[in-house]
Amino acid sequence: EKGGYASFMLKEIAEQPKAVADTLLGRIDASGSLTLDEVRISAAELREMDKVVIVACGTAFHAGLIAKYAIEHWTRIPCEVELASEFRYRDPILDQQTLVIAISQSGETMDTLMALRHAREQGSKVLAICNTNGSTIPRESDAVLYTHAGPEVAVASTKAFLTQLVACYLVALYLGQVRGTKWGDEIRAVIRDLARIGGAVERVLGTMEPVRELARSLAGKDTVLFLGRHVGYPVALEGALKLKELAYMHAEGFAAGELKHGPIALIEEGLPVVVVVPSPRGRSVLHDKIVSNIQEIRARGARTIVIAEEGDEAVVPYADHLVRIPVTPTLLQPLVATVPLQVFACELATARGNEVDQPRNLAKSVTVE
Ligand code: M6R
Repeated sequence: EKGGYASFMLKEIAEQPKAVADTLLGRIDASGSLTLDEVRISAAELREMDKVVIVACGTAFHAGLIAKYAIEHWTRIPCEVELASEFRYRDPILDQQTLVIAISQSGETMDTLMALRHAREQGSKVLAICNTNGSTIPRESDAVLYTHAGPEVAVASTKAFLTQLVACYLVALYLGQVRGTKWGDEIRAVIRDLARIGGAVERVLGTMEPVRELARSLAGKDTVLFLGRHVGYPVALEGALKLKELAYMHAEGFAAGELKHGPIALIEEGLPVVVVVPSPRGRSVLHDKIVSNIQEIRARGARTIVIAEEGDEAVVPYADHLVRIPVTPTLLQPLVATVPLQVFACELATARGNEVDQPRNLAKSVTVE
Protein backbone atom coordinates (compact mmCIF):
# COMPACT_ATOMS: atom_id res chain seq x y z
CA GLU A 1 0.00 0.00 0.00
CA LYS A 2 2.93 2.32 0.53
CA GLY A 3 3.58 2.23 -3.20
CA GLY A 4 7.29 1.58 -2.82
CA TYR A 5 7.84 4.34 -0.24
CA ALA A 6 9.41 3.58 3.14
CA SER A 7 6.47 5.17 4.95
CA PHE A 8 2.98 6.48 4.33
CA MET A 9 4.26 9.89 5.27
CA LEU A 10 6.82 9.90 2.44
CA LYS A 11 4.17 8.66 0.04
CA GLU A 12 1.75 11.36 1.16
CA ILE A 13 4.40 14.08 0.87
CA ALA A 14 5.05 12.91 -2.70
CA GLU A 15 1.32 12.95 -3.49
CA GLN A 16 0.99 16.64 -2.73
CA PRO A 17 1.12 18.02 -6.29
CA LYS A 18 -1.77 15.75 -7.24
CA ALA A 19 -3.69 16.45 -4.02
CA VAL A 20 -3.44 20.18 -4.67
CA ALA A 21 -4.51 19.81 -8.30
CA ASP A 22 -7.42 17.54 -7.34
CA THR A 23 -8.65 20.06 -4.80
CA LEU A 24 -8.75 22.74 -7.51
CA LEU A 25 -10.40 20.47 -10.05
CA GLY A 26 -13.79 21.69 -11.28
CA ARG A 27 -13.67 24.75 -9.07
CA ILE A 28 -12.16 27.20 -11.57
CA ASP A 29 -14.24 27.74 -14.71
CA ALA A 30 -13.03 28.46 -18.24
CA SER A 31 -13.27 32.22 -17.67
CA GLY A 32 -10.97 31.98 -14.64
CA SER A 33 -13.74 32.54 -12.07
CA LEU A 34 -14.50 30.30 -9.14
CA THR A 35 -17.57 28.11 -9.02
CA LEU A 36 -18.13 26.76 -5.56
CA ASP A 37 -21.68 25.45 -5.88
CA GLU A 38 -21.03 23.10 -2.98
CA VAL A 39 -20.86 26.10 -0.68
CA ARG A 40 -24.59 26.09 -0.16
CA ILE A 41 -24.54 29.41 1.64
CA SER A 42 -25.98 31.82 -0.93
CA ALA A 43 -24.05 34.72 -2.42
CA ALA A 44 -26.60 37.06 -0.82
CA GLU A 45 -25.92 35.57 2.61
CA LEU A 46 -22.17 35.70 2.08
CA ARG A 47 -22.44 39.39 1.22
CA GLU A 48 -24.13 39.98 4.59
CA MET A 49 -21.36 38.38 6.65
CA ASP A 50 -19.43 40.88 8.72
CA LYS A 51 -17.01 38.52 10.42
CA VAL A 52 -15.29 35.21 9.73
CA VAL A 53 -14.23 32.94 12.58
CA ILE A 54 -12.06 29.91 11.88
CA VAL A 55 -11.87 27.02 14.35
CA ALA A 56 -9.52 24.05 14.08
CA CYS A 57 -6.82 22.07 15.90
CA GLY A 58 -3.17 21.31 15.26
CA THR A 59 -2.10 21.47 11.65
CA ALA A 60 -5.60 22.47 10.54
CA PHE A 61 -5.32 25.45 12.93
CA HIS A 62 -2.14 26.48 11.13
CA ALA A 63 -4.04 26.38 7.83
CA GLY A 64 -6.60 28.65 9.50
CA LEU A 65 -3.91 31.12 10.57
CA ILE A 66 -2.76 31.39 6.96
CA ALA A 67 -6.37 31.72 5.77
CA LYS A 68 -6.78 34.80 7.96
CA TYR A 69 -4.15 36.68 5.95
CA ALA A 70 -5.85 35.73 2.69
CA ILE A 71 -9.41 36.42 3.85
CA GLU A 72 -8.68 39.80 5.37
CA HIS A 73 -6.55 40.90 2.42
CA TRP A 74 -8.90 39.85 -0.38
CA THR A 75 -12.25 40.46 1.29
CA ARG A 76 -11.61 43.10 3.98
CA ILE A 77 -13.84 41.07 6.33
CA PRO A 78 -12.35 40.78 9.84
CA CYS A 79 -11.26 37.22 10.49
CA GLU A 80 -10.41 35.53 13.78
CA VAL A 81 -8.74 32.15 14.10
CA GLU A 82 -9.11 30.18 17.27
CA LEU A 83 -8.05 26.83 18.61
CA ALA A 84 -11.26 24.84 18.67
CA SER A 85 -10.50 23.61 22.19
CA GLU A 86 -10.53 27.19 23.52
CA PHE A 87 -13.40 28.54 21.49
CA ARG A 88 -16.67 27.77 23.23
CA TYR A 89 -15.34 28.12 26.75
CA ARG A 90 -14.82 31.87 26.45
CA ASP A 91 -18.36 32.71 25.32
CA PRO A 92 -17.38 34.01 21.86
CA ILE A 93 -19.43 36.71 20.16
CA LEU A 94 -21.32 35.06 17.30
CA ASP A 95 -24.46 35.83 15.32
CA GLN A 96 -26.09 35.27 11.94
CA GLN A 97 -23.63 37.60 10.29
CA THR A 98 -20.69 35.48 11.42
CA LEU A 99 -19.37 32.89 9.00
CA VAL A 100 -17.68 30.13 10.96
CA ILE A 101 -15.22 27.91 9.09
CA ALA A 102 -14.32 24.59 10.71
CA ILE A 103 -11.22 22.95 9.24
CA SER A 104 -10.61 19.25 9.83
CA GLN A 105 -8.91 16.50 7.87
CA SER A 106 -10.72 13.67 9.63
CA GLY A 107 -14.03 15.42 10.21
CA GLU A 108 -14.17 13.65 13.58
CA THR A 109 -12.09 15.89 15.85
CA MET A 110 -14.21 16.36 18.96
CA ASP A 111 -12.88 19.82 19.87
CA THR A 112 -13.71 21.14 16.41
CA LEU A 113 -17.12 19.45 16.43
CA MET A 114 -18.04 20.98 19.80
CA ALA A 115 -16.89 24.40 18.57
CA LEU A 116 -19.08 24.22 15.48
CA ARG A 117 -22.08 22.99 17.46
CA HIS A 118 -21.67 25.97 19.74
CA ALA A 119 -21.47 28.32 16.73
CA ARG A 120 -24.63 26.91 15.19
CA GLU A 121 -26.47 27.21 18.49
CA GLN A 122 -25.69 30.94 18.36
CA GLY A 123 -27.21 31.19 14.87
CA SER A 124 -23.99 31.30 12.86
CA LYS A 125 -23.59 29.49 9.57
CA VAL A 126 -20.80 26.92 9.54
CA LEU A 127 -18.76 26.00 6.49
CA ALA A 128 -16.63 22.88 6.93
CA ILE A 129 -13.36 22.34 5.09
CA CYS A 130 -12.88 18.61 5.36
CA ASN A 131 -11.07 15.69 3.74
CA THR A 132 -13.37 12.84 4.78
CA ASN A 133 -16.63 12.38 2.91
CA GLY A 134 -19.66 12.00 5.10
CA SER A 135 -17.80 12.42 8.39
CA THR A 136 -19.43 14.08 11.39
CA ILE A 137 -18.13 17.65 10.99
CA PRO A 138 -19.42 18.14 7.42
CA ARG A 139 -22.67 16.38 8.31
CA GLU A 140 -23.31 18.83 11.11
CA SER A 141 -22.27 21.91 9.12
CA ASP A 142 -24.40 24.11 6.87
CA ALA A 143 -22.06 23.55 3.93
CA VAL A 144 -18.84 21.79 3.12
CA LEU A 145 -15.93 22.31 0.80
CA TYR A 146 -14.13 18.99 0.53
CA THR A 147 -10.40 18.82 0.15
CA HIS A 148 -9.44 16.08 -2.28
CA ALA A 149 -6.22 14.89 -0.69
CA GLY A 150 -7.33 11.26 -0.72
CA PRO A 151 -6.92 9.13 2.41
CA GLU A 152 -4.17 10.37 4.73
CA VAL A 153 -2.80 7.46 6.75
CA ALA A 154 0.29 8.90 8.47
CA VAL A 155 -0.56 10.57 11.76
CA ALA A 156 1.39 13.68 10.78
CA SER A 157 -0.69 15.72 8.39
CA THR A 158 1.02 16.70 5.13
CA LYS A 159 -1.05 16.50 1.97
CA ALA A 160 -4.22 17.30 3.90
CA PHE A 161 -2.58 20.52 5.11
CA LEU A 162 -1.67 21.65 1.60
CA THR A 163 -5.18 20.96 0.39
CA GLN A 164 -6.66 22.77 3.40
CA LEU A 165 -4.62 25.77 2.32
CA VAL A 166 -5.96 25.48 -1.22
CA ALA A 167 -9.52 25.25 0.11
CA CYS A 168 -8.94 28.28 2.34
CA TYR A 169 -7.60 30.29 -0.60
CA LEU A 170 -10.62 29.23 -2.65
CA VAL A 171 -12.99 30.40 0.08
CA ALA A 172 -11.12 33.69 0.48
CA LEU A 173 -11.05 34.32 -3.27
CA TYR A 174 -14.69 33.27 -3.61
CA LEU A 175 -15.76 35.65 -0.85
CA GLY A 176 -13.78 38.36 -2.63
CA GLN A 177 -15.42 37.47 -5.94
CA VAL A 178 -18.93 37.37 -4.51
CA ARG A 179 -18.58 40.59 -2.54
CA GLY A 180 -16.53 42.46 -5.14
CA THR A 181 -13.42 44.13 -3.74
CA LYS A 182 -10.83 46.46 -5.12
CA TRP A 183 -8.59 43.43 -5.53
CA GLY A 184 -10.56 42.06 -8.49
CA ASP A 185 -7.54 42.01 -10.84
CA GLU A 186 -5.30 40.53 -8.18
CA ILE A 187 -7.90 37.86 -7.41
CA ARG A 188 -8.06 36.84 -11.08
CA ALA A 189 -4.25 36.73 -11.27
CA VAL A 190 -4.00 34.64 -8.09
CA ILE A 191 -6.59 32.17 -9.39
CA ARG A 192 -4.33 31.71 -12.43
CA ASP A 193 -1.28 31.25 -10.17
CA LEU A 194 -3.15 28.80 -7.97
CA ALA A 195 -4.01 26.69 -11.01
CA ARG A 196 -0.26 26.29 -11.65
CA ILE A 197 0.88 25.78 -8.07
CA GLY A 198 0.96 21.97 -8.22
CA GLY A 199 3.90 22.26 -10.63
CA ALA A 200 5.76 24.46 -8.14
CA VAL A 201 5.21 21.90 -5.35
CA GLU A 202 6.51 19.20 -7.69
CA ARG A 203 9.66 21.23 -8.34
CA VAL A 204 10.30 21.63 -4.60
CA LEU A 205 9.96 17.87 -4.14
CA GLY A 206 12.59 17.35 -6.81
CA THR A 207 15.20 19.34 -4.87
CA MET A 208 14.94 17.79 -1.40
CA GLU A 209 18.10 15.68 -1.23
CA PRO A 210 20.23 18.39 0.47
CA VAL A 211 17.41 18.93 3.00
CA ARG A 212 17.46 15.20 3.84
CA GLU A 213 21.20 15.26 4.24
CA LEU A 214 20.99 18.29 6.49
CA ALA A 215 18.23 16.69 8.60
CA ARG A 216 20.35 13.58 9.16
CA SER A 217 23.27 15.74 10.29
CA LEU A 218 21.06 17.30 12.98
CA ALA A 219 19.80 14.06 14.51
CA GLY A 220 21.87 14.60 17.67
CA LYS A 221 20.52 18.11 18.40
CA ASP A 222 18.00 18.81 21.18
CA THR A 223 16.30 21.92 19.87
CA VAL A 224 15.41 23.49 16.55
CA LEU A 225 13.79 26.91 16.26
CA PHE A 226 11.66 28.15 13.37
CA LEU A 227 11.12 31.78 12.40
CA GLY A 228 8.77 33.35 9.92
CA ARG A 229 6.81 36.50 9.25
CA HIS A 230 3.40 37.19 7.71
CA VAL A 231 2.18 33.87 6.25
CA GLY A 232 5.63 32.46 6.95
CA TYR A 233 4.87 32.64 10.67
CA PRO A 234 2.20 29.88 10.65
CA VAL A 235 4.54 27.95 8.33
CA ALA A 236 7.17 28.19 11.08
CA LEU A 237 4.62 26.92 13.62
CA GLU A 238 3.79 24.01 11.34
CA GLY A 239 7.47 23.17 10.83
CA ALA A 240 7.93 23.08 14.60
CA LEU A 241 4.82 20.94 15.16
CA LYS A 242 6.01 18.41 12.58
CA LEU A 243 9.38 18.15 14.31
CA LYS A 244 7.82 17.75 17.77
CA GLU A 245 5.42 15.03 16.79
CA LEU A 246 7.82 13.06 14.60
CA ALA A 247 11.32 13.63 15.98
CA TYR A 248 10.24 14.16 19.63
CA MET A 249 12.51 17.20 19.72
CA HIS A 250 12.00 20.54 21.34
CA ALA A 251 10.92 22.73 18.46
CA GLU A 252 9.32 26.14 18.55
CA GLY A 253 8.04 28.52 15.93
CA PHE A 254 8.24 32.27 16.43
CA ALA A 255 7.19 35.36 14.55
CA ALA A 256 10.55 36.78 13.53
CA GLY A 257 9.52 40.25 14.71
CA GLU A 258 9.21 38.85 18.25
CA LEU A 259 12.85 37.78 18.40
CA LYS A 260 14.07 40.78 20.32
CA HIS A 261 11.09 40.57 22.68
CA GLY A 262 12.47 37.38 24.19
CA PRO A 263 13.31 34.40 21.98
CA ILE A 264 16.68 35.77 20.86
CA ALA A 265 17.93 34.91 24.37
CA LEU A 266 17.66 31.25 23.33
CA ILE A 267 20.23 31.60 20.55
CA GLU A 268 23.52 29.91 21.32
CA GLU A 269 26.44 28.47 19.40
CA GLY A 270 25.38 25.81 16.92
CA LEU A 271 21.59 26.08 17.50
CA PRO A 272 19.79 25.23 14.25
CA VAL A 273 17.29 27.93 13.28
CA VAL A 274 15.07 27.51 10.25
CA VAL A 275 13.97 30.82 8.74
CA VAL A 276 11.13 31.11 6.25
CA VAL A 277 11.89 34.23 4.20
CA PRO A 278 9.09 36.23 2.58
CA SER A 279 9.43 37.14 -1.06
CA PRO A 280 11.70 40.13 -1.77
CA ARG A 281 8.99 41.28 -4.17
CA GLY A 282 5.61 42.38 -2.83
CA ARG A 283 6.00 43.08 0.87
CA SER A 284 9.71 43.77 0.55
CA VAL A 285 9.93 45.61 3.89
CA LEU A 286 9.27 42.32 5.64
CA HIS A 287 11.91 40.61 3.55
CA ASP A 288 14.53 43.16 4.54
CA LYS A 289 13.59 42.91 8.20
CA ILE A 290 13.92 39.15 8.22
CA VAL A 291 17.31 39.35 6.51
CA SER A 292 18.43 41.53 9.45
CA ASN A 293 17.03 38.89 11.84
CA ILE A 294 19.07 36.21 10.11
CA GLN A 295 22.18 38.38 10.47
CA GLU A 296 21.43 38.95 14.17
CA ILE A 297 20.96 35.30 15.07
CA ARG A 298 23.94 34.20 13.03
CA ALA A 299 26.16 36.75 14.77
CA ARG A 300 25.11 34.99 18.01
CA GLY A 301 26.14 31.58 16.75
CA ALA A 302 22.93 30.16 15.22
CA ARG A 303 23.30 27.71 12.37
CA THR A 304 20.92 29.26 9.87
CA ILE A 305 18.77 27.16 7.58
CA VAL A 306 17.19 29.61 5.19
CA ILE A 307 14.18 28.90 3.01
CA ALA A 308 14.07 31.60 0.37
CA GLU A 309 12.69 32.25 -3.07
CA GLU A 310 14.77 31.51 -6.16
CA GLY A 311 16.69 34.64 -7.13
CA ASP A 312 16.72 36.09 -3.59
CA GLU A 313 20.42 36.91 -3.36
CA ALA A 314 20.25 39.06 -0.22
CA VAL A 315 20.04 36.00 2.05
CA VAL A 316 23.02 34.18 0.56
CA PRO A 317 25.79 35.66 2.80
CA TYR A 318 23.92 34.71 5.99
CA ALA A 319 22.65 31.23 5.13
CA ASP A 320 24.61 28.26 6.43
CA HIS A 321 22.13 26.14 4.46
CA LEU A 322 19.98 27.57 1.72
CA VAL A 323 16.79 25.89 0.54
CA ARG A 324 15.32 27.38 -2.63
CA ILE A 325 11.59 27.55 -3.31
CA PRO A 326 9.91 28.74 -6.50
CA VAL A 327 8.68 32.30 -6.89
CA THR A 328 5.00 32.46 -5.86
CA PRO A 329 2.57 35.25 -4.95
CA THR A 330 3.18 36.19 -1.30
CA LEU A 331 -0.02 34.70 0.09
CA LEU A 332 0.47 31.38 -1.70
CA GLN A 333 4.05 30.89 -0.49
CA PRO A 334 3.07 28.46 2.34
CA LEU A 335 2.15 25.88 -0.32
CA VAL A 336 5.79 25.63 -1.35
CA ALA A 337 7.55 26.71 1.87
CA THR A 338 5.96 23.98 4.03
CA VAL A 339 7.18 21.10 1.88
CA PRO A 340 10.89 21.27 2.87
CA LEU A 341 9.82 21.41 6.54
CA GLN A 342 7.81 18.20 6.16
CA VAL A 343 10.73 16.44 4.49
CA PHE A 344 13.10 17.80 7.14
CA ALA A 345 10.99 16.48 10.04
CA CYS A 346 10.37 13.11 8.41
CA GLU A 347 14.05 12.53 7.67
CA LEU A 348 15.24 13.76 11.06
CA ALA A 349 12.74 11.50 12.83
CA THR A 350 13.86 8.53 10.74
CA ALA A 351 17.50 9.29 11.53
CA ARG A 352 16.59 9.23 15.23
CA GLY A 353 15.07 5.79 14.76
CA ASN A 354 11.45 6.90 15.17
CA GLU A 355 8.44 5.36 13.52
CA VAL A 356 7.17 8.26 11.39
CA ASP A 357 3.73 6.95 10.51
CA GLN A 358 2.74 6.20 14.10
CA PRO A 359 4.47 8.67 16.45
CA ARG A 360 4.29 7.79 20.13
CA ASN A 361 1.30 9.00 22.14
CA LEU A 362 -0.58 10.31 19.09
CA ALA A 363 -3.73 9.22 17.28
CA LYS A 364 -4.71 10.14 13.72
CA SER A 365 -7.99 11.54 14.84
CA VAL A 366 -8.69 12.85 18.31
CA THR A 367 -12.27 11.98 19.12
CA VAL A 368 -12.27 13.03 22.76
CA GLU A 369 -12.19 16.59 24.09
O1 M6R B 1 -8.49 15.67 11.62
P1 M6R B 1 -8.16 17.08 12.02
O2 M6R B 1 -7.67 17.89 10.88
O3 M6R B 1 -9.32 17.77 12.72
O4 M6R B 1 -7.00 16.94 13.06
C1 M6R B 1 -6.49 18.07 13.73
C2 M6R B 1 -5.20 17.73 14.44
O5 M6R B 1 -5.40 16.72 15.38
C3 M6R B 1 -4.10 17.30 13.45
O6 M6R B 1 -3.87 18.27 12.48
C4 M6R B 1 -2.79 17.01 14.20
O7 M6R B 1 -2.27 18.20 14.73
C5 M6R B 1 -1.79 16.32 13.26
N1 M6R B 1 -1.21 15.18 13.89
C6 M6R B 1 -0.70 17.23 12.80
O8 M6R B 1 0.24 16.62 11.99
